[in-house]
Amino acid sequence: MPVSVSGPAGAGAEGKGLSKKLFIKTWGCQMNVYDSARMADVLAPLGYRPVEEPDGADMVILNTCHIREKASEKVFSELGRLRTLKDRKGSSGDRMILAVAGCVAQAEGEEIVARAPYVDLVFGPQSYHTLPEMVARAARAAGSLLNTDFPVESKFDHLPDDTGAQQGISAFLAVQEGCDKFCTFCVVPYTRGAEFSRPVAQVVAEAERLVAGGALEITLLGQNVNAFHGEGPDGRSWGLGRLIRRLAEIDGLARIRYTTSHPRDMEDELIRAHAEVPQLMPYLHLPVQAGSDRVLAAMNRKHTADDYRRIIDRLRDICPDLALSGDFIVGFPGETDTDFAETLRLVNDVRYAQAYSFKYSPRPGTPAATEARPVPEEVKTQRLTALQQLLDAHQFAFNQGFIGRTVPVLFDRKGRRDGQLMGRSPWMQSVFAEAPERLLGRIVPVRIAAAYGNSLSGSVETGEFVLSPPRGAAAGEPVEALA
Ligand code: SAH
Ligand code: SF4
Ligand code: F3S
Repeated sequence: MPVSVSGPAGAGAEGKGLSKKLFIKTWGCQMNVYDSARMADVLAPLGYRPVEEPDGADMVILNTCHIREKASEKVFSELGRLRTLKDRKGSSGDRMILAVAGCVAQAEGEEIVARAPYVDLVFGPQSYHTLPEMVARAARAAGSLLNTDFPVESKFDHLPDDTGAQQGISAFLAVQEGCDKFCTFCVVPYTRGAEFSRPVAQVVAEAERLVAGGALEITLLGQNVNAFHGEGPDGRSWGLGRLIRRLAEIDGLARIRYTTSHPRDMEDELIRAHAEVPQLMPYLHLPVQAGSDRVLAAMNRKHTADDYRRIIDRLRDICPDLALSGDFIVGFPGETDTDFAETLRLVNDVRYAQAYSFKYSPRPGTPAATEARPVPEEVKTQRLTALQQLLDAHQFAFNQGFIGRTVPVLFDRKGRRDGQLMGRSPWMQSVFAEAPERLLGRIVPVRIAAAYGNSLSGSVETGEFVLSPPRGAAAGEPVEALA
């Protein structure tokens, strides 16, 4: 889903009396959402203020995703539309700087420049800290500027550290980036580059700023977040479990999550953290992709289905209420009906609380793209339907198990109907309830009355205690006093 980024950049920019309109459209994973927010941060000192519409904007950035064919195609159709807006602005004597960022820019930068020469800037995920320089060069020069090198320095060392702190109640924090795993279907190692972990002190400082800016929940991000091995304050390499324990010491940080993890990096310390760190939410996104060992080997996943089952067993032993999520690919080249049946068997064994499933999409430059024995489109469709039916049934059953229970919900936005608030349970379910707006940004007990495919609804338990009072207020205020 495209997300337009609006953020705090405006306030500072307006203060300088030099307001320029910045529109960012984001596709892809949460890392891209995080990156878009940081691009807005980097551009704020230049006077750019995020707006909700591209029409009339001084700068438009498309932050793109290359993961599947459909995701990439969207860029070119969007560029066609933006060209008209850019021309219109140009004919009134102004200029719109048009930029393509993200994973399509990294993978297909030259093609973008060739097919859409009216694009001013094309840059990959590792160089957006140089945006001020790129914008200055674009303003001076005609033609497209292409910047898809992987710089030696880390962008994180060059991003402004006084911004990004106002992400709101639920914030993202990138701790790890890139991938060295090279699954044969996947573009990420090529678009994001090699695995890199930020130093612990940098992560802790950013988390403290987020919490000071109002975050109650932080989701740690990485393409393989549990491959995190950042340098600790003791000079040693810290794993994700240790990092989570350190972050849990931050006063006011009520919830910690992380995504996306790889089964091969589920280390003991991280598994133990699920039992021992109360702030670590009982939800884990642990993609497996397929249930057949033959397919897993062809995918270069370097684990078997039983290895995965064993990890799940260990996690559930230690944290019985853990909600599991996963990713699946159907129709990988050479996948037979028997292989696919193994995927269904694994799904039945694990019983996911929710999951994402995709048809295999051959990606240029990846080893699997040249494989013979493609699975016919209609077979992919049938398998996807069968898998999604099973996953949906499990999700629904999981949600139904909550009827009658009271769960802590972090209300982070208004609901669709007047008087409703929406939030998340610890298990990542969306929960909506009638609630006064003043409960936004609080963790509130909600008694669940109904369960749907993708959400729960219920009513705020009055008389119970608000679990996270607003900063500065007395802890343990009963809900009715707030309502
Ligand atoms: N780092 C994560 C996943 C990153 S990509 C991991 O290792 O699991 C997100 C998901 O997109 C993947 O888990 C996979 O299910 C899906 N995906 C990636 N490449 C794909 C392709 N070529 N075709 C279809 N789905 C793909
Ligand atoms: Fe892609 Fe595999 Fe790396 Fe995940 S682990 S990002 S699926 S190559
Ligand atoms: Fe897409 Fe790049 Fe994320 S390809 S899924 S935006 S890492």
